[in-house]
Amino acid sequence: MTLCEVLAKLDTFFRAGLVQNFPYFSCFAYSYFRKYFLNRLKEEIPKPIRISEELKIKLWGITFRTPLFNAAGMFKDGRGYQLAYSQCAGAFLAGTVTPNPKVGNFRKCILHPFVPYPFSGASSNWLGLPNPGYKKVIGFLQQISKVEDFPIGLSFASDGDSHADLEVLCNVLKDAERYNIDFIELNESCPNVNHGNLHHTRLDEHFIWRLEYVATNFLKKRRRNLPVILKLSNDFPEELVPNLLDIITEMGFDGINFGNTSTNYNFLKSYIVEAEQRTFAYFTTVFGGGVSGAPLKEKSYSLTKYATEYLRTKNIKQEFYVIRTGGIKDYRDLEESKQQSVALFQWFTGYFENFAKFGHTLYRKFFEI
Ligand SMILES: Cc1cc2nc3c(=O)[nH]c(=O)nc-3n(C[C@H](O)[C@H](O)[C@H](O)COP(=O)(O)O)c2cc1C
Repeated sequence: MTLCEVLAKLDTFFRAGLVQNFPYFSCFAYSYFRKYFLNRLKEEIPKPIRISEELKIKLWGITFRTPLFNAAGMFKDGRGYQLAYSQCAGAFLAGTVTPNPKVGNFRKCILHPFVPYPFSGASSNWLGLPNPGYKKVIGFLQQISKVEDFPIGLSFASDGDSHADLEVLCNVLKDAERYNIDFIELNESCPNVNHGNLHHTRLDEHFIWRLEYVATNFLKKRRRNLPVILKLSNDFPEELVPNLLDIITEMGFDGINFGNTSTNYNFLKSYIVEAEQRTFAYFTTVFGGGVSGAPLKEKSYSLTKYATEYLRTKNIKQEFYVIRTGGIKDYRDLEESKQQSVALFQWFTGYFENFAKFGHTLYRKFFEI
């Protein structure tokens, strides 16, 4: 067993008691432990695991080894490609990265607040997009010895909400075309930044203007095959999905990902077990933040189902795919959505739950039907 496999197993004995009884201390401890753990994990290179070739899927001319890979935020600084490859993930998604470095959020002596709700299969985070900035991350990505059929994605967000911020973002996106990334995810859904609104849950003029800006200044000027997926929140209203899809397919986006964390605390509360309610109330009151994991499962399922159903009625010129993120934990989640033509899947909370059980063999176990 590797160090991280041991730590993840040991943690399962402590985390329930900590989270149930010590709201502040569990936020403090897990915010720091999570970072230590991730940094160690990225250094672990297990023996490469093989799973069925039949799981390979080709989208936009890019081959993904399986339809499942990490959600953005796990490999923020671009390190972890070898780990993800060895575990047999479908792809490697780095970021979210912003044009300039971001320190992230700090409150009550906690840098990058995070807490798990183990019995509820969920977590809260108020990290605030900490990252070393585009230049550093693209630098790390350039050092990767790329493996065939194991693509690299990079998640981007703007530094802020102004015209100037979008201009900088588009310059960085254009620059990224020169490097070894295969696809881009545009994060327009982070609820944890205080520079204006990135958590779009309405199709208002400002949001459409942002998308239009990226379309005109980047999407339409691309010089090579570099698909761009738009990542929105799982809080995005279902009734606006058709309108959204009309707009973004016309603009030239290549996919939609539902999605990011939720801030709909009243709704989410009902998914948190009684014993973890106190810590949930503490975190959401003191930090706010976005909720991940099991409480998002139904929303991500229905939003992506609705999107694929609508796309079937449309005659779209380009290859356009729907990606599901939120509450993915086992193969059944993926199977249900695959029947609806959802093409790709990302996981974050479920990844760590499965890592605690299966260690580095987690992808193989996931696909062992
Ligand atoms: C600690 C943490 C950090 C995250 N950072 C990012 C990020 O940088 N960019 C992003 O698009 N989503 C980020 N997310 C959201 C996840 O990518 C994912 O959309 C969300 O957790 C729902 O998936 P899950 O239910 O499988 O966890 C983060 C989530 C967590 C828990």
